[in-house]
Amino acid sequence: MRRVQTIAELRAAIAEARGRGQRIGFVPTMGYLHEGHLSLIDHVRRHCDFTVLSIFVNPLQFGPREDLAAYPRDFDRDAALAEARGADLIFHPDAHEMYPAGPPRVTLVAPELSDHLCGRYRSGHFEGVLTVVAKLFNLVQPDVAVFGQKDFQQSVIVRSMVRDLDFPIRIEVAPIVRESDGLAMSSRNVYLDADQRTRALALHRGLRAAVRAFEAGQRDATMLLDAIHTEINSTPGVELQYANLVDPESLEDRPQARSGDVLAVAAFLGKTRLIDNEILP
Ligand code: PAJ
Repeated sequence: MRRVQTIAELRAAIAEARGRGQRIGFVPTMGYLHEGHLSLIDHVRRHCDFTVLSIFVNPLQFGPREDLAAYPRDFDRDAALAEARGADLIFHPDAHEMYPAGPPRVTLVAPELSDHLCGRYRSGHFEGVLTVVAKLFNLVQPDVAVFGQKDFQQSVIVRSMVRDLDFPIRIEVAPIVRESDGLAMSSRNVYLDADQRTRALALHRGLRAAVRAFEAGQRDATMLLDAIHTEINSTPGVELQYANLVDPESLEDRPQARSGDVLAVAAFLGKTRLIDNEILP
């Protein structure tokens, strides 16, 4: 597995792979890899023969009161995990390589899609995500890129960017990988102490209760969301930021649930913000 830090080295390695006639797959990440990230490598390897993983903690997508400085980093561990999983190249630029003149003067926005779920509470976040993903797409020029359903809104916004701006890239979305007790894997789970780790299960329990109610015939969004509120309100130390039932394309709230709609939640455990979601069966 090659490890490159500069855009020039990345472009040269991509040109070599293209020269060999290889199809290029891409997994963008911010590192501190866990099984969720590694499942994306497995996923993309099914569609291509040269797998590129990027590790870049993108400052543009963090708000001023968010955890940019504290965000967990362990490049050597990440590189070993990615290599064992079959990645062919890791691109890990520093902020100066990506933004040599400071924050870019040209950025991408998705105003309507950012007006829901996380976007309502993380001003500028998806602008930062879209801008770095577009930049990475231009650098890697992959045939296929894979994103996790874990960040459902992100996957919808990236898909829209690719469609609306004609990026010649196929976007795949891979299912959420969970710990054995149901907690969605996240690099941010390391912030949780043992007690918070237990309480964090309320997010998944609430989502599952709502899915069960849907399967039992409940269609009213308020009733489904009540199942989530009940679970979270009965778990001290978990502060719900939002729970919504949304249309999977427009991300607009749905008053009546249909299969394929998405239940999405965000909650704080102390300072740690966790998200999770379920697609209605
Ligand atoms: P990061 O949070 O590191 O996530 C990288 C990718 O892994 C995303 O597509 C995310 O949805 C996926 N992922 C995270 N947890 C997962 C889980 N439990 N199961 C399956 N997939 C999971 O998302 C970002 O980085 C950044 O916003 C990025 C796209 C790299 C742009 O900076």
